[in-house]
Amino acid sequence: MHHMQRIDNETVRRILDTADIVEVVGDFVKLKRSGANYIGLCPFHNERTPSFSVSKARGICKCFSCGKGGSAVGFIMELEKLSYVEALRWLAKKYNIEIKERELTADELAAASERESMLALNEFALDFFEHSLTETDEGRNIGLSYFRERGISDASIKKFRLGYAPEKRDALSSAAMAKGYSGEMLKATGLCSLTERGTYYDRFRGRVIYPVFALSGKVLAFGGRTLKSSKDVAKYVNSPESIIYHKSNELYGLYQARRAIVSADKCILVEGYMDVISMSQRGIENVVASSGTSLTEGQIALIHRFTSNVTVIYDSDPAGIKASIRGIDMLLAQGMNIKVMLLPQGDDPDSFAKSHTLEEIQSYMAEHETDFIRFKARIMLSTTNSDDPVARAGIISSMAKSISVIPDPVLRSEYVKECARQLSTSEEVVALQVSRFRNEGLDREAGKARTEEVTQSVPDPTIQVRTTRNADKSAFLRPGESEILRLLVRYGMMTIAESQDAEGNLTEISVLDYVRSELEPDNITFTNPDLDALYGAILDLQPQWEAELPGLQTRAEAAGRDFSEAELGVLRSQALSMSEMTKRGNDIAARAEEVKSGFVSDAAEQFIARRLAASPDDTVRAMATSMISEKYVLSKIYTKNNQKIETERDLLSIRVPRAVYGLKIARLQWDEKELRLMLAEKAGSPESVEILASLQEMRRIIAEIAKYLGERIILPR
Ligand code: UTP
Ligand code: MN
Repeated sequence: MHHMQRIDNETVRRILDTADIVEVVGDFVKLKRSGANYIGLCPFHNERTPSFSVSKARGICKCFSCGKGGSAVGFIMELEKLSYVEALRWLAKKYNIEIKERELTADELAAASERESMLALNEFALDFFEHSLTETDEGRNIGLSYFRERGISDASIKKFRLGYAPEKRDALSSAAMAKGYSGEMLKATGLCSLTERGTYYDRFRGRVIYPVFALSGKVLAFGGRTLKSSKDVAKYVNSPESIIYHKSNELYGLYQARRAIVSADKCILVEGYMDVISMSQRGIENVVASSGTSLTEGQIALIHRFTSNVTVIYDSDPAGIKASIRGIDMLLAQGMNIKVMLLPQGDDPDSFAKSHTLEEIQSYMAEHETDFIRFKARIMLSTTNSDDPVARAGIISSMAKSISVIPDPVLRSEYVKECARQLSTSEEVVALQVSRFRNEGLDREAGKARTEEVTQSVPDPTIQVRTTRNADKSAFLRPGESEILRLLVRYGMMTIAESQDAEGNLTEISVLDYVRSELEPDNITFTNPDLDALYGAILDLQPQWEAELPGLQTRAEAAGRDFSEAELGVLRSQALSMSEMTKRGNDIAARAEEVKSGFVSDAAEQFIARRLAASPDDTVRAMATSMISEKYVLSKIYTKNNQKIETERDLLSIRVPRAVYGLKIARLQWDEKELRLMLAEKAGSPESVEILASLQEMRRIIAEIAKYLGERIILPR
């Protein structure tokens, strides 16, 4: 996350301004032109008829069927499951934009540099191992021939970036040091150790290498498998835990599998490196490995980013299965949908994938995937003597415990039934135990929550009433508030009017200027916090726009000049009368002026929308994107000759004031409602006369504004 601060703002601007939505989406989707937009098949869900639309002018894309999409950076985040900064780096790479790293503060440097150097060294080691595998005799004779023997294709070697570590004790460390990597980093990453004599020797020697990647594509660790059959060498040597590698938060193969997981909406969990690679090579690409350990919550959260469906594949070794069943209760507790599949006796996913075709594997999976609870009962019954009453009680209790963590009550009660049937006991027995486990679990949770609450605040009933009231008010005002924001997001920097000061200087008034001039004097703020945050983000853009304006005007003038020079060139080449020349000359000057102002107003129209749709703030980005892509209803106002329906952009001088006064009326209506309630409460009391008077005054003002706006105004509800 510390990357966040590391791309300097100017580079971020350049990346966002360069990224062309049509080109970016075009890398993943075949696009066809359709009017002003482009369309193609949505990459986020399976479809036969295209509903994914890309607007070059607005810089956004959107699926009209599943609703996904966004700006170029938002699209890449969603599709590649990257963070904001990772997506920026992705775009920078596509457009060959060099990322200038900002100068770091001393503190940042200390924290970041170790991590960065370790990642850089790992990157070097990755290249070194890959190179050793395919470009050295030792690597080809030993490593590559081993992979060949196990049926691994060159494509898989490339995809999983497999490598080979030479037998020599300091092959990597001397190569790395020659390149300037420090011994300290070699030790920190665990690639090498230091002997007592002060020399370095490599952790991975004479082993084939499986690199472990983060979701960002950075290489965090390595696993090295020995090629010797001797019992005294460890089969696998792995990178140790470090500040860049927390084994329990990574899953082998997830980087390569992430898109397949999303499109299959399922993640298959296996045990080993080789299982992942063989399955993937066979065409089942949504496979990851927990690398021989039981699953952790961090790993589950990682999978949950992509899907809630997990299928765990076991080779049919009952002892192993029983041990890993514990980890699965955790998956259940996270509300994941767990299926389990046993392979035929003697097979592991690797051998199974190699001895079957893709179709055979798929049909085997369709037939043998079992619900986890059912599976667990079966395994426990088959490995325990169920005639022994104590053992039986143990099974029931263990089953009840698994069921108790499932968040969905309907699912829970179904499992209670099922389980009772399988264990030949009554539903009540199981249900009772489930509810006991649940109460224990809930007590623990509640205990945590309670202590947090106490440290926060002592509840105050009046505050509670106020906040519900405020929530009602926000909900009432939401349509009016969001309409203003929608107009600001789409057109905020465009000019809607000009004003003239005493000396006769013209000032252009933007939509944003106008909205501010109407809201600020009345102290009107946005009562919905998300909308208020969006408004804040828009206000922040004002100085940026002002900074860009001079450059923009220079470019606009150049565009106007180019236009008139070209046209005048044509004009001069023609033999025309003097008066005709003058007339056409004036005509060209007028059109050049239009080119110039069109240039600025197009940029103004896109400015806020583009910036916000690419904002690092998830909420701002999502709201802005939906406001930009929202279809608005055209009012049926025609131009004089009834030819062309005017666009919303042409009607801003009507729409914007209407939206502002619409909100003002809504606010007054809310106050009026409150006064009415108060009047009802205080009926007959002396204050009621006063309340009635203000109520009447309020109604008069509402009527006046409504009249000013004309009949056609539709008040927000
Ligand atoms: P396996 O022994 O099943 O390995 O361990 P494998 O991946 O199937 O390898 P092959 O097929 O023998 O080549 C499963 C996983 O457990 C971890 C590794 O991640 C391995 O892929 N493991 C196993 C270790 O980390 N260390 C070990 O000594 C053994
Ligand atoms: Mn294996």
